[in-house]
Amino acid sequence: MRVAVFRKAHFNAAHRVHNPNWSADKNADTFGKCNNPHYHGHNYELIVKVVGEVDPETGYVIDLGILKKIIEDKVEERFDHKNLNLDTEEFKDTIPSTENFAVVIYDLLRAELDEKYDIQIRLYETPRNFVEYPVSI
Ligand code: NI
Repeated sequence: MRVAVFRKAHFNAAHRVHNPNWSADKNADTFGKCNNPHYHGHNYELIVKVVGEVDPETGYVIDLGILKKIIEDKVEERFDHKNLNLDTEEFKDTIPSTENFAVVIYDLLRAELDEKYDIQIRLYETPRNFVEYPVSI
């Protein structure tokens, strides 16, 4: 019996969406406000979906306390109140779009969770703009 469980998390981070190979005009035209040279912040909302078999001994797919701790240690500690462009290795040479950020977060969590679980994340950059990765599980 496979069931999906979810854990939500929240953190704040700043970024600038900018392609260094482009002119200032092309960056401004393409990325608009997100290209502000002085950066800007987002209140990110993260939803982590874990799919697996229900353990008959616990009734759990995964202990949500453990999942909470993994998200805190690997995602919130790493990115909360950081400037993604300046403070993180992950975005030194990668544009910190929500798409790329979701892939980075997925990879960090995937490395911590048993292979028996399928995982998917949804990352909200604003209440109306969000991405999912992987696309389907
Ligand atoms: Ni932005």
